Amino acid sequence: MKKKIAFFSTQDYDRHVFDAALKSSVSNQTKDMDITYFEHTLCASTAPLCQGFDVVVAFVNDDLNAKTIEILASCKVKHIALRCAGFNNVDISAAEAANIRVSRVPAYSPETVAEHTIALILTLNRNTHKAYNRVREGNFQLNGLMGFTLHNKTVGIVGTGKIGKAVIRILRGFGCKVLCCDPFEDETVKDLGASYVDIETLFSESTIISLHCPLTEDSNHMINEASLQKMQDGVMLINTSRGGLVDDTALINGLKRRKIGYLGLDVYERESELFFTDRSHEIIQDDNFQRLITFPNVLVTGHQGFFTAEALNEIAHVTLDNIINGNNTVVLD
Ligand code: NAI
Repeated sequence: MKKKIAFFSTQDYDRHVFDAALKSSVSNQTKDMDITYFEHTLCASTAPLCQGFDVVVAFVNDDLNAKTIEILASCKVKHIALRCAGFNNVDISAAEAANIRVSRVPAYSPETVAEHTIALILTLNRNTHKAYNRVREGNFQLNGLMGFTLHNKTVGIVGTGKIGKAVIRILRGFGCKVLCCDPFEDETVKDLGASYVDIETLFSESTIISLHCPLTEDSNHMINEASLQKMQDGVMLINTSRGGLVDDTALINGLKRRKIGYLGLDVYERESELFFTDRSHEIIQDDNFQRLITFPNVLVTGHQGFFTAEALNEIAHVTLDNIINGNNTVVLD
């Protein structure tokens, strides 16, 4: 019997990549997959669509809270296959209680996200986004484009897992001094020439701070009014992890009083109401988001850190493999 699989939050590129992965797969089991792609997100109100499906494939902004999971269980869904690394959007205990397996793609090219992090740092610093527009309009003035030399600067990395480590490797190549913090110290990070310090030291000594830890109850709003106070005036703050790590009202205040000199975000706490959709004809209702993008020293990208051909291809193959072979199950500690 064919395994029925429902994909949520899909765009054209997801469908192309997954269809290609299915075609190229050597496994006979992919031939027994009956796939339906939905464009909309998976949440409590759309979960009843899962009636008759064995597996749902979900993405970063699908809302798999206890209510959604209860409906999935009543639809007899057996497996939630996340096609992303983070799983903060899934109530894992509710899924365990409902006997629904949750799997994810723990590592698909950490360099992909690391390189986007560096792109944000370099763009904010050297103003290449502004230079691009100026030159196209015949304006060759350099006023306002001055950057700083990265070589010898101190960068603080919060979270030295797969992505944090890839960022450190690149920054060391630039000749930066790297301070980092993580509840679990990793010898290979020290071998890269980075030093572990406490978070207070990282905040106070870093010219650039980049977040690479997961969103948990502990890390929620770790960047807030109090932590900003401990940072250098004019600090560059980069978040390519999860929006909830930062309190966006504190960011706005920090930008207004010039505590934050540069802000690069690839993620936003309420991004599920904004990202991955063309909203250019809409009146955006999120006032904090709209305020953030008015600052000349803020650069926001719409959760595209993962978005390279190589990473998407890897995500597709690992997700299919997770469905077939039951790998990468998320378990509660
Ligand atoms: P990982 O699991 O390899 O590493 C996370 C590290 O953070 C671990 O070493 C952990 O000990 C550490 N950590 C946990 N809590 C911490 C805290 N409070 N302070 C400091 N360190 C802490 O995860 P990976 O693959 O490096 O991913 C990092 C984050 O990047 C993920 O949580 C995910 O949300 C985000 N991500 C964003 C993408 C994008 O497209 N922008 C794509 C993929 C992941």
